[in-house]
Amino acid sequence: MKRKVIFDCDPGVDDGVALLLALSAKHEIDLLGVTTVAGNVSAELTARNACVIREIVGRLDVPIFSGCTKPLVRDPIEAGHFHGESGLGDLPIRALTHHVSSEHAVDFLVRTLIDAAPESMSLVITGPMTNVATALQREPRCVKGIKEFVIMGGARSEGGNITASAEYNIYADPHAAQKIFNAGPRVWAFGLDATHQVRATPARTATLSAIGTPIARAAAQLIEFSNALPANGPREYGSPLHDPCPIVWLIQTELFEFIPCHVDVETESPLTLGHTAVEFRPRADREQNVRWAVRANADGVFSLINRVFQI
Ligand code: RIB
Ligand code: CA
Repeated sequence: MKRKVIFDCDPGVDDGVALLLALSAKHEIDLLGVTTVAGNVSAELTARNACVIREIVGRLDVPIFSGCTKPLVRDPIEAGHFHGESGLGDLPIRALTHHVSSEHAVDFLVRTLIDAAPESMSLVITGPMTNVATALQREPRCVKGIKEFVIMGGARSEGGNITASAEYNIYADPHAAQKIFNAGPRVWAFGLDATHQVRATPARTATLSAIGTPIARAAAQLIEFSNALPANGPREYGSPLHDPCPIVWLIQTELFEFIPCHVDVETESPLTLGHTAVEFRPRADREQNVRWAVRANADGVFSLINRVFQI
């Protein structure tokens, strides 16, 4: 049974690969819409970039909605140094034939979730969680339509990638993340503990590129941009493929292993802002509503990506 999905993202190089995959996997994912948010780059650029990716795949049937321009509380912090000036690395940015919807992402989220059948929607979030948190804040009844959140964010054993103790998506809007982790629905959380196991080595990137389709070549070009960044470590290790992990899981869940837990987010301390306190020990007063990804089958992830892009 295809999951009904809304994909909220901040493209972003790895979001771009995830979106190429989600838009290509039309037999596995019922993608109702894409919502974009300020994060890696501005809200204007993340929206434009989602439209660029959509035209590469040709899925003009999937609407794109531009969303929040800044986090709930903290000052905005971008990650342009990892994604290039355009936000899509060195991918050519061609003139668009189709643009974002005129409807705000939060309005789309609210009306879609309010009308959804109970627990029917999978919300994938691979950027700061501002849009979804704002929708839940504006209209708490939205939660009834949500089956699960499937998020890229957080870190436990791996430590942080934007500060010593915080991963970027959580750090960029910690108040939004705290709302999502504690909204009630199941959260499938792909933190750095799992995504750091999924490395786009030169061999894997070359195999992807050799598929030769425009979509596969675009994905390889986005990945190669990350691999060339010194901040992502030695090229031979390959950069971590963060945001495609939730999308891959939607298609082949057995590629990842999880531990039940609950998660709270530091929203006050200047030193540890955005830290995810991942508690595996059961407590009588807290439901373990989160499944924390601890193992990834990296070869299986790349085999699936190659299979989807072959078509
Ligand atoms: O920490 C990795 C996350 O931060 C990814 O979603 C990447 O796109 C950046 O937003
Ligand atoms: Ca992202």
